[in-house]
Amino acid sequence: IQKVSTLLLFGATGDLSHRMLLPSLYGLDVDGLLPEKLKIVGTARSELDDDSFRASAVAALREHVPTDFFDHSRADQFAARLSYVQLDAKDKPGFAKLAERIDPADGLAIFLSTAPSLFEPTIQGLASAGLAGDEVRLALEKPLGSNLASSREINDAVAAEFPEERTFRIDHYLGKETVQNLLALRFANVAFEPLWNSAHIDHVQISVAETVGLEGRSDYYDGSGALRDMVQNHMLQLLALVAMEPPADFDATSIRDEKVKVLRSLRPIGPDDVPNHVVTGQFGAGAIGDQPVKAYAEELGRTSQTETFVALKAHVENWRWAGVPFYLRTGKRMPARKTEIFIQFKCIPHSIFAKRGAKTRPNKLVISIQPEENIRLMVMAKTPGLDREGIRLREVPLDVGLRDAFADTRRRIAYERLLLDLIDGDPTLFVRRDEVEAQWQWIDGVRASWEQTGLEPKVYGAGSWGPSAAIALTERDGVQWHD
Ligand code: BG6
Repeated sequence: IQKVSTLLLFGATGDLSHRMLLPSLYGLDVDGLLPEKLKIVGTARSELDDDSFRASAVAALREHVPTDFFDHSRADQFAARLSYVQLDAKDKPGFAKLAERIDPADGLAIFLSTAPSLFEPTIQGLASAGLAGDEVRLALEKPLGSNLASSREINDAVAAEFPEERTFRIDHYLGKETVQNLLALRFANVAFEPLWNSAHIDHVQISVAETVGLEGRSDYYDGSGALRDMVQNHMLQLLALVAMEPPADFDATSIRDEKVKVLRSLRPIGPDDVPNHVVTGQFGAGAIGDQPVKAYAEELGRTSQTETFVALKAHVENWRWAGVPFYLRTGKRMPARKTEIFIQFKCIPHSIFAKRGAKTRPNKLVISIQPEENIRLMVMAKTPGLDREGIRLREVPLDVGLRDAFADTRRRIAYERLLLDLIDGDPTLFVRRDEVEAQWQWIDGVRASWEQTGLEPKVYGAGSWGPSAAIALTERDGVQWHD
């Protein structure tokens, strides 16, 4: 594998760069994981020179790196790797100037963290300046289009200059430790896999609740909405990891082959399914804790039909999952930040305790991804006592306490792993073209059906778990959301 000596960062002065990419690169540098000679070249439209870019990078690190991990002299040392080239993606001669600073033959990785409308001109500019080619890897940050057609257009523009094996599509959820741990849980243990099917699993819930609102991203978010912003990518990736068949190996082809089969097996949601399978919402005014929060429309400054919440009932139509609902739910301005996969097993076939008055509950596996990283299996246990008035059973957690088991390991930002994999040339945790397109295909179908049926987002109070219709969505099946 070609070693990378330059990381070229488009959108280097943007929010993602400040909050995630630079802090991640700093973290890798402090841990001695970056190639010794790696240069990081930032580009953006702002007029900056190398020194002012370095200063803004250090300021971003001070703000976004946890205080106990930030060290001023280490940050300065890291900043010495940085340089800056002012560039407008539509300005071809600008790329030629950029190319004077970089020799792709020495190993080049490019990270596009810009608006997707700039992907095509940027790729063309890179190619015209000789910055594409065999030695070069290209990483792209979402959104990769806003539907299947626009995503294909981007993918075609990329494919014209970069082969698939050097294209690294980011879904930062795949960089999260607990998400990768899902693979360890399923495929490094014997206990779960025999039960991991419709014979033993009643249903699966995947929830991504956020407390944040628009975060100043109204231009992007209002044109996107929760379905395209969160479900199309992160949540379908989580679903694919939960539902996929055991891959033969932990490698990019085996893992992605299995995920794409799941994505292609998603049952389309047609117009007739919308009433029982889809709920959308938009947050109204409310409070999170004791913090009052404005309504979406007020935060946006105008009325809008964009959904900030979506709940879906999905099905994976294959032998393993026939009849098992996958309930997906995500929203902004929910009462707590919580990403969780909840798997409810079926009830025991017969209770020997029933005549002694004891109730049993089905086992549940709760995989908490954030903010807590934990895996908990809920099992029934006997409440201590002499049982003269009947046996009492209680649900107790068997904790795979990741937090405690690995307490002394620094929790990394998801992008640390992804940037390092990009530098190392390992695409396993990146999304392949066929996956993205299968994701869009299903999402486009959902949207088309809801548009056809005139589905409108229901208002929910900020700080609540979404509109009451979302509760009805599962209750109709006798299921409750795990809050
Ligand atoms: C991004 C979305 O992809 O993921 C944001 O665009 C969302 O709207 C974010 O807030 C959530 O990421 P995380 O890592 O905080 O769960």
